[in-house]
Amino acid sequence: MNISDSMSFRHWCLTTLALCVFILASQHVRADTFDDPKNLKVLPSDITPDELRRTMVGFSAALNARCSYCHMVDDALSMPDPDYSADDKWTMQVAREMLQMVDVINGRVSNLDFSPRQQKVEVQCMTCHRGQNRPILILQVLNEARENGGIDAVIAKYSELRERYYGNHTFDLRPSTLAGFARKVASEGDTDGSIKILDFANENFPDQERVLFALARVHQQRNENDQAIAFLRELVRLLPDSSFYAEQLGLAEKAHAE
Ligand code: HEC
Ligand code: HEC
Repeated sequence: MNISDSMSFRHWCLTTLALCVFILASQHVRADTFDDPKNLKVLPSDITPDELRRTMVGFSAALNARCSYCHMVDDALSMPDPDYSADDKWTMQVAREMLQMVDVINGRVSNLDFSPRQQKVEVQCMTCHRGQNRPILILQVLNEARENGGIDAVIAKYSELRERYYGNHTFDLRPSTLAGFARKVASEGDTDGSIKILDFANENFPDQERVLFALARVHQQRNENDQAIAFLRELVRLLPDSSFYAEQLGLAEKAHAE
């Protein structure tokens, strides 16, 4: 692979991270790695090497983690004889617990009657993890950013996540996420902070219904009717068929006239 190939490979990796973990992980693993497991405590003892390999690649993809995240092995593969049976790592213990938990969940789900449907939905590591070690949702990430660094940190964190994860299913990065977060911030009394987030959203992602409506509402909360009316007019222009925004605009204009 020459430099430009490897650059585009890296770029491609960043955009399809999970698949890449799959490729990198499987490239670096010796062919006989899965042949003779010695320390399975949860997976069935008669698991085939291919099933074990797919399970491990699945773990790696779901958590966006390398084998070394759970195993006492070296990713550089300088280890002559990696030992995947060692269970010294804490993550290995957690992963076993998670395997059992997933089994319990699937057992409970299969007890429910979904008979009209043909295909079952099986809960897997990916169902929750979606490419993260900890399957955290974006609102929690933004809350933590706010606690640690205020509104600027929220905006910085959202931008960073969007840059890194857009197009993946790891985080809901639609501008409506920012709108919802901003409305919560306003409901707690910080309308300045709320408007800062919404202005950022509106500048970077114009014409977004949720963002514009949140701006209208937060300005109404501050009794800034001119601004609220301007945003409602914007919504009516964008969504001429919506009777809801037309009505909201009518109410706001009436209140303003009184
Ligand atoms: C999220 C944690 C996690 C990741 C990532 C992971 N594994 Fe595992 N692996 C486990 C757990 C847990 C077991 C034991 C399952 C059990 O006890 O039934 C295991 C078992 C194994 C075994 C059987 C070991 C033995 O001797 O019993 C092999 C081989 C293995 N993994 C290889 C890999 C490879 C190769 C990768 C990277 C592609 C990988 N694993 C990624 C958690 C992980
Ligand atoms: C029902 C949702 C759910 C499923 C399914 C699930 N997990 Fe988890 N997992 C969690 C949650 C929640 C946490 C984080 C707890 C925390 O950090 O507060 C977690 C944490 C972990 C961690 C520790 C991560 C760290 O660095 O802190 C590992 C390892 C892990 N899960 C492995 C797995 C594996 C392997 C599977 C599939 C067999 C799996 N999980 C399936 C919900 C799930």
